[in-house]
Amino acid sequence: MKKKGIETHVVVSESAKTVMKYESDNFEESMKRIESSSDKIYAENDIAASIASGSFKVDGMIVAPCSMKTLSAIANGYSDNLVSRAADVQLKQQRKLVLVPRESPLNAIHLENMLKLSRIGVWIIPPMLCYYTKPKSVEDMTDNVVGRVLDAFEVEHNLYKRWEK
Ligand SMILES: Cc1cc2nc3c(=O)[nH]c(=O)nc-3n(C[C@H](O)[C@H](O)[C@H](O)COP(=O)(O)O)c2cc1C
Repeated sequence: MKKKGIETHVVVSESAKTVMKYESDNFEESMKRIESSSDKIYAENDIAASIASGSFKVDGMIVAPCSMKTLSAIANGYSDNLVSRAADVQLKQQRKLVLVPRESPLNAIHLENMLKLSRIGVWIIPPMLCYYTKPKSVEDMTDNVVGRVLDAFEVEHNLYKRWEK
C-alpha cells in the first residue's frame, strides 16, 4: 500500500499482539515492519482516533485477520474498541469493508455472523489455501490471500498468477 502511495491507518489489537508473539519469529521486528509501513498506528482503545468518525474520509477498511470475537462485534454493532468502531463506521457510511475471518472449524454462530455481514455487502475473504497457483512456500500462499484482499479494493498487484485457460 505504501509503495503505491495509498495512505493506511492501522490498529493492532492487544490480542493480535499476543497472537503475533506466538506466531511470528520476531515480534518486535514484525511490529516495527507494521509501524514503518503505516501512515498512522493507533491503540485499540483509542476510540477518539480519526478513523472512529464517519466524517474522516477513507475508502474502506480491511480487518485481517478477523477473529470470531471481532466478527461478532461487527455483525452485532457492538463497537467496544477501535477495530469494531471503525468497522461500524464503514457500514454506516456505506463504504467498503473486507473481513479476513480466521477460524476452523466454523460453528453456526460464526457462519451466521458472516452471512449477516455478507448480505449487507461486506466482503468475506477467508485465508484459504489455493493450489492452482502452485504455491512453493507459506509466503506464496499468504501473497495469494493478500492479493485477493487487494482485488476487493481494485489495487493493482502481481501477488498471484490469475487463472487463465
Ligand atoms: C495463538 C493464538 C491463536 C488464535 N487464533 C485465533 C483464530 O484463528 N481465530 C479466532 O477467532 N481467535 C483466535 N484466537 C483467540 C483470539 O485472539 C481472541 O478471541 C481475542 O479475544 C480476539 O480479540 P481481537 O479480535 O480484539 O483481536 C487465538 C489466540 C491465540 C493465543
